[in-house]
Amino acid sequence: MTRLTILLLLPAALHAETGSDAWLRYTPHANVPLTFIANGTSPVMNSARSEWTRAVRAMTGQEPRRVDTPQEGTVVFTTREDAELAPDAYWLKTEYRNGKRVTLVAARNERGVLYGTFALLRKIQLGESIDNLDEQQAPYAPVRWVDQWDNLDGSIERGYGGRSIFWDNMHARADLTRAGDYARLLASLGINGCSINNVNANPKLLSSDLIPDVARIADAMRPWGVRIALSIDFGSPQSVGGLDTFDPLDPRVAAWWKAHTDEIYRAIPDFGGFVLKADSEGRVGPSTYGRTHADAANVVARALKPHGGLIFYRGFVYDHHMDWNNPKNDRARAAYDNFKDLDGKFDDNVIVQIKNGPIDFQVREPASPLFGALEHTNQAIELQVTQEYFGQAHHTVFLVPMWKETLDFDMHAKPGSPTPVKSLVKAFVGVVNIGLDDNWTGNHLSQSNLYGYGRLAWNPDLSAKAIDDEWIKLTFGSDPEVLRVLSNIQLTSWRTFENYTGPLGLQTLTDITGNHYGVNVEASERNGWGQWHRADDKGVGMDRTVATGTGYVGQYRPEIARVYESLVSMPDDLVLFFHHVSYTYVLHSGKTVIQTIYDMHYDGAEAVEQWARDWKSLNRRIDDQRYNAILAQLEYQAGQAEVWRDAVTNWFLKTSNIPDTKGRVGHYPGRTEAESMTLDGYTVAAVTPAEDASGGKAVSCEAKFCQASFVFGDPNAVFVLNVKRDPPVPYDIRVEYFDQNNGAAHYSAFVNSRMVDEWTADMRLPSARLDSTSSARRLIPGVSLSPGDTILIEVSPNGRETAALDYVEIVPHQ
Ligand code: GCU
Repeated sequence: MTRLTILLLLPAALHAETGSDAWLRYTPHANVPLTFIANGTSPVMNSARSEWTRAVRAMTGQEPRRVDTPQEGTVVFTTREDAELAPDAYWLKTEYRNGKRVTLVAARNERGVLYGTFALLRKIQLGESIDNLDEQQAPYAPVRWVDQWDNLDGSIERGYGGRSIFWDNMHARADLTRAGDYARLLASLGINGCSINNVNANPKLLSSDLIPDVARIADAMRPWGVRIALSIDFGSPQSVGGLDTFDPLDPRVAAWWKAHTDEIYRAIPDFGGFVLKADSEGRVGPSTYGRTHADAANVVARALKPHGGLIFYRGFVYDHHMDWNNPKNDRARAAYDNFKDLDGKFDDNVIVQIKNGPIDFQVREPASPLFGALEHTNQAIELQVTQEYFGQAHHTVFLVPMWKETLDFDMHAKPGSPTPVKSLVKAFVGVVNIGLDDNWTGNHLSQSNLYGYGRLAWNPDLSAKAIDDEWIKLTFGSDPEVLRVLSNIQLTSWRTFENYTGPLGLQTLTDITGNHYGVNVEASERNGWGQWHRADDKGVGMDRTVATGTGYVGQYRPEIARVYESLVSMPDDLVLFFHHVSYTYVLHSGKTVIQTIYDMHYDGAEAVEQWARDWKSLNRRIDDQRYNAILAQLEYQAGQAEVWRDAVTNWFLKTSNIPDTKGRVGHYPGRTEAESMTLDGYTVAAVTPAEDASGGKAVSCEAKFCQASFVFGDPNAVFVLNVKRDPPVPYDIRVEYFDQNNGAAHYSAFVNSRMVDEWTADMRLPSARLDSTSSARRLIPGVSLSPGDTILIEVSPNGRETAALDYVEIVPHQ
């Protein structure tokens, strides 16, 4: 038996996988060419060759051979001056040389060859034939970048996959292997730039002392064709340069930017440029001197221009101290109001970087009207790959369908022909924020968003399904059942997440002023941040119409404004983003707003329960390590979806006083509140906001050791399941507890005196308090129970974590 046959026979399930290989797993495949010809010895060509060698070895168990003359099947990696290809484009072509069939991987530049190499390997991994190729692929946008919001101390703003791969303790890491590995992943998607520090930039990054550190990071990424860039603080001429001003029109400031930029380019000749967040969320900017954003962008752009560098000037500019009481105030207006009149005033190496929607990466937003308003300014679309408002590393949400909706949205920017957002942007920027975790993103499924972002930046015409299918096959193998189950989860995940976190254009009903993770319906109101939904006892939604509201609708071209201005044409999905309506307003769907809010939350929570059940059917079809990690994630997410469902629906029930026609809200069969159990050591604690805990309360253990118990089927319990079944039947016990991040409490669950489960509360959740963020569910499946059985939870707190408990829910085993 050959080594290849042995490799091919090895069931995938035997290999535990950490996820570090992401979609570049190179599992065994037949018919892989074993000889190759490669010209060039530059770092990028070396990467193409080393990737090929590494992949062939992994796929065949054999050593690929470099040859001088073609043999049957030889792959030829080559740059060709004459090829009529755009920069970074590649050509995969089957040719005959001296009667031998060869596969050409050709491009005008070396990056193109590298991208062609990855593309050929992708084809092989996807099981596509490479025998008769003639395929040219050119990137849709010339600039395809990622931004990392990494801090010099090694933390990452809105990063959920561990600490920075670049920085630690105010310097570049001694070991930058992971930075090189990241650049390889990016190159496999055709991404050609990476900004390596937080947009809320530490001015120190521009001190001369750090240039050698930045240069080391550039060295680590360069072999993969990834140029690096830096986020800058606009006050740097003063804070770093020692000038008494940072006025962009002061010649000394211009000279400082030039001198400093020259210094960077001396150390890093292929440096990509700068990203600048100014006059936003407390960052200084040109307004200090009454100057415009164009003045600010251009002074930096002129320093970069001789070196071919770019400045990404962020369109994310707004006032976060707006008066909530003024119904005409509207954060959504900000980008357009700040930039529209500057159209045409930016230098040609300035790119205005615009978030997909007008607010801030919310669960559903309309396309930013700024895309349709700038006619003489370079634009980039900024998409957030890191799941800040999308359940961070804990909830499954595949974002490509949402991004596509914006990219394909017709802005009606030019008369006569459609102008979807993708046709208006020259550059793609993804905020990625991967970290040192083995699996990069803090969980396995979120990798699909980085994959999807890269594929869209290369070709936004690809469908979400096509991208997802590719990613699933590359990441989990070609088992059709895995594809079926996971594809269904992924492709319905945006809608599902929206259903339980922010339906009808309400935006994500999360803790706006805090961690952006847990549920807090009121957190967005009565403050200056402007993520308002204006829900009160009569109605809900922001009136952004021209006729009676903030006038935001008027920022769109008339064809779009007409649709959004009137409730008659307003799509249900965004209705509360644009209009304030009563709870009893009937949507196009035929249902009232309030009933839709209730129903969407129940649909969302039920869908996640179903995903967890579906996922179980894949046991043994993928490796155990990833199978178990994803199962745990989906089960946790199912619990969180229920926490969200209950919090939001109870808040709206309390506020509107209109009951759920289906009688679900406020009624939880099978649930026993911890505060109504028999408690030993535990004390009752109020939870804020009250809707974050079932019944508004939890029990918290301030002693060394506590117990809470209740009798199953107790007729005195508030809600009783139909438990009179004989013989005993299996139930699922769902324990809703609190996993704070300031300790690792231990829990044990008993039925009568038999232990049925034990666990430690040590998930990485962003809260030290009792709230919906720390609320977590432990599922104890298939426990036989009879009426009269005692269920007891026994806990030992740890650190400042008080082993708190919200409720126990018992449902028939699913
Ligand atoms: C969001 C995010 C911030 C970030 C900002 C930005 O508001 O929460 O952490 O700095 O976006 O994009 O600049």
